[in-house]
Amino acid sequence: MRRVIIAGNWKMNKTIPEAIELVSGLKRGVADITNIDIVVIPPYTALSEISDMLVETNIDVGAQDVYWEEKGAFTGQVAPSMLKDAGVKYVVIGHSERRQYFGETNETVNKKLKAALNAGLSPIMCVGERLEEREGGKAFDVIKDHVENGLAGFSKDDAQKIVIAYEPVWAIGTGKTATPQQAEEVHKYIRELLAKMYNESVASEIRIQYGGSVKPENINDLINQQNIDGALVGGASLKVEQFIPIVKESAKKGA
Ligand code: PGA
Repeated sequence: MRRVIIAGNWKMNKTIPEAIELVSGLKRGVADITNIDIVVIPPYTALSEISDMLVETNIDVGAQDVYWEEKGAFTGQVAPSMLKDAGVKYVVIGHSERRQYFGETNETVNKKLKAALNAGLSPIMCVGERLEEREGGKAFDVIKDHVENGLAGFSKDDAQKIVIAYEPVWAIGTGKTATPQQAEEVHKYIRELLAKMYNESVASEIRIQYGGSVKPENINDLINQQNIDGALVGGASLKVEQFIPIVKESAKKGA
């Protein structure tokens, strides 16, 4: 059984006081939910503060990116051990915004995944096609490229530790969600691909989240798809009144 995982990617939002306020409300609102993994992913500046608030709770902390070197002259970068030091458990790698604006490639994704695993972090690897790729009938080719090259060189054991987030770029922050059928089709494809790359049992263990305009109104249909094991939520994770119902709805599948 794959454990459902709901993560809130705050992107470049929230000061430290705002982050504390949001997490205080969330902590109260989801205190009784223990059958799924709940993750908040604040900006770097709030990580340490938020981790302290969440020690021994049912909520884990994630970071939005990481660098692959351990230390040195890499101005602006953050090392895996620094994230561990700040109480971080998960790290998002290869988000489409990083691929689009910051030159992230499958190669850098692969290096970051390796470094994160070596440090004992749990990576969330994002994959997903752009609108023109979907319209051009290339969605599956893009997903295959992201998954195969992102995971290049990983053993079965390592692959099993990675969460994959399918995020169609055309659905991110646009209010346009993939239909549950569209999402399930890709999730199923990813699982079949993983079975070919590793084996059926590894593929059945790896969690695949959906991301892209997830809201309280659409989580139910999405989470109830067979191969959807959670959600990576952007905009709706910035408001407790939206994130809490998403977590609660998802916990029904986890039960
Ligand atoms: P969104 O973002 O929920 O605001 O569409 C999702 C994401 O980018 O992870």
